[in-house]
Amino acid sequence: MANLILFFSSVLILPFVYSVHFNITRFVSDSSEISYQGDAKANGAVELTNIEYTSRSGWATYGKKIPLWDPQTGKPSDFTTRFSFRIDTRGAAYGNYGHGFAFFLAPAEIQMPPNSAGGFLGLFNETDVLSSSYPLVHVEFDTFTNPEWDPLDMGSHVGINNNSLASSKATSWNVSTHSQDIGRVVILYDSVRRNLSVSWSYDLTSDPRKENSSLSYIIDLAKVLPSEVTVGFSATSGSVTEGNRLLTWEYSSDLEMRDIKKSQEDKKGMIIGSSVSGFVLVTFFIVLLIVFLKLKQRRKAGVEKEHLTSINEDLERGAGPRKFSYKDLASAANNFSVDRKLGEGGFGAVYKGYLNGLDMMVAIKKFAGGGGQGRVEPERSLVERVWDLYGKGEVITGVDEKLGSEGFDEKQVECLMIVGLWCAHPDSNSRPSIKQAIQVLNFEATLPHLPIKMPVASYHVSSSSAATSVSSGGAATATFSSAQLGR
Ligand SMILES: *[C@@H]1O[C@H](CO)[C@@H](O)[C@H](O)[C@H]1NC(C)=O
Ligand SMILES: *[C@@H]1O[C@H](CO)[C@@H](O)[C@H](O)[C@H]1NC(C)=O
Ligand SMILES: *[C@@H]1O[C@H](CO)[C@@H](O)[C@H](O)[C@H]1NC(C)=O
Ligand SMILES: *[C@@H]1O[C@H](CO)[C@@H](O)[C@H](O)[C@H]1NC(C)=O
Ligand SMILES: *[C@@H]1O[C@H](CO)[C@@H](O)[C@H](O)[C@H]1NC(C)=O
Ligand SMILES: *[C@@H]1O[C@H](CO)[C@@H](O)[C@H](O)[C@H]1NC(C)=O
Repeated sequence: MANLILFFSSVLILPFVYSVHFNITRFVSDSSEISYQGDAKANGAVELTNIEYTSRSGWATYGKKIPLWDPQTGKPSDFTTRFSFRIDTRGAAYGNYGHGFAFFLAPAEIQMPPNSAGGFLGLFNETDVLSSSYPLVHVEFDTFTNPEWDPLDMGSHVGINNNSLASSKATSWNVSTHSQDIGRVVILYDSVRRNLSVSWSYDLTSDPRKENSSLSYIIDLAKVLPSEVTVGFSATSGSVTEGNRLLTWEYSSDLEMRDIKKSQEDKKGMIIGSSVSGFVLVTFFIVLLIVFLKLKQRRKAGVEKEHLTSINEDLERGAGPRKFSYKDLASAANNFSVDRKLGEGGFGAVYKGYLNGLDMMVAIKKFAGGGGQGRVEPERSLVERVWDLYGKGEVITGVDEKLGSEGFDEKQVECLMIVGLWCAHPDSNSRPSIKQAIQVLNFEATLPHLPIKMPVASYHVSSSSAATSVSSGGAATATFSSAQLGR
C-alpha cells in the first residue's frame, strides 16, 4: 500500500487551489500591499485624483500579480471584488465635473500610460482609444460624456469595457444625485458562465424605482487577458474636476492550478489552500479504487490487456452509438445458445456473451418479422456499480478486499467513496467544487445526498432506423450508446 501511494503520487499531476484574498478597510501609504501611481495617495482612504487641479490621473493597484487562469488547462477562476467609493461633484451641473474612475484588470506590472488624463480614464491615450495597446478589461463609472466614444443618450454611465474606451455594455448612472454618498459595488466573475457582472448601491440615496443598479457582460476573460493580471483602480479629471475616493476594497479568487511547481514558486504572499493534501487524497483513492476494480474485472473475464480493442476504447472515450452486425452478435452469444440465455420477455430473449474487448455484453434478440434486432449493452461501469451499492446503503462493500487486509477506517473510506461518486456525477453541474469535496472529506460538512439511482443520460434509436435494420432480414444490426455506460 505504501509503495502504491508513492507510485501514484509520482505519476499523478496534482491539482492545487490557488487562493487570493484581501480585505482593506484602511489605506496607508507605508504599505506595499497597494501601489500608487500618479495623483493617488493614501490617507485612510485613497484620493485617486487631486480635486484642486485639472487634468489629473491616479492609479491604486494591488501590489502583487493575481492568477486569473491556469496556463496548463486554460481554466479561469471565479473572482469577487467589493469596494466602496465616494465621488464629489462639488455641486457642479452635469458637464462641469468629471471624469470618473474604473476598476480594471490588465497585464501584471503594467504602468499608467502617459497622457491618459480626462476622458482617457488613466487607461488609454490618444494612440489607442478604440483598441488598447495592452489587454485590458475594465468596469467604468464614467461621469462625463465624451461624444467620441461614450453613449450619447445616457449622460454619466456605468460600463463594461473590453480593450476599448467604448463600452461593450453600459447603463445610465446619474452621479450628481449621489454626490458625496458612499457607493458600494460588487463585481463578480462567474468563470463557468463567463459572466462578468457589476451591481451597486448607495448608503442613503439609492432609488431602485428610478435607476438601474446592475450590469453584466458575457466575456471569456481567459481569451482576453493574460494568465496573471494586475487589478486596481484608475481615476482622472480633465478640464473639469471632481473628487474620486476609494474607501474600502476586498477581493477574493480561487484558481485550481495543475502545476504544483509553478504554484510553489509563485506563492509569495498568496495563501495556498490547506486543502491540497485532502484533494490529493481523493484523487489518489479514486484512481486506486478504479485500478483495483478494473484488475479484478479483467481477471474475472480472463481478458488480457492486449485483447482490448477499439470498441472498448470507443466506450472509454464516450464515443457515440456503434453498430454491430447480427453475425457478430450471434457469434458473441455462441449462436444464441441456450446456455447463454439469461431470460425471455414481452419483446424477445436476452443473452450474455463476449464481444472482442468488451468484458461482457448482453444481446437482446428481438422476435420481429423475418429478421432479428439485436441490442447490446456493455457491462455496467464501475461508477454505476458503486452507485448501486450506495443506493442500497452498502457502499462500503464496494471496497476491494485487498484493501480490507491492510485494515482501514470504514467511516473514512465510505466518505471517500461517496465523495468519489459525487465527483463522478453524470451532470457536471451537480459535482462539488474542490473546496466542497475537501470540507466533506475533513468531516467539516455533511455528506451529500446523492440520488439513490445514478442519473443516466438516455439515448434513443429513432424508430425509422430501427425499422430499416429489421427489414434488412438476416443482416440485422444493433445499436447501443455509450451514454448507457453511465460515464
Ligand atoms: C472585511 O473587513 C470588514 C471590516 O473589518 C468586515 O466587516 C467584512 O466582513 C470583511 N469582509 C470579509 C469578506 O471578510
Ligand atoms: C500612449 O501610451 C503608450 C503606452 O501605453 C505609449 O507608448 C504612447 O507613447 C502613449 N502615447 C502618447 C501620445 O503619449
Ligand atoms: C441627474 O439628476 C439630476 C438631479 O436629480 C437631474 O437634474 C439631472 O437631469 C439628471 N441627469 C441625467 C443625465 O439624468
Ligand atoms: C450574469 O450575472 C448576473 C448577476 O449575477 C445576472 O443577473 C445575469 O442574468 C447573468 N447573465 C447571464 C447571461 O447569465
Ligand atoms: C435600465 O436598463 C434598461 C436595459 O438596459 C434600459 O432599457 C433602461 O432605459 C434603463 N433605465 C434607466 C432608468 O436608466
Ligand atoms: C474583446 O476584445 C478582443 C479584441 O480586442 C476580441 O477579440 C474579443 O472578441 C472581445 N470579446 C468580447 C466578449 O467582447
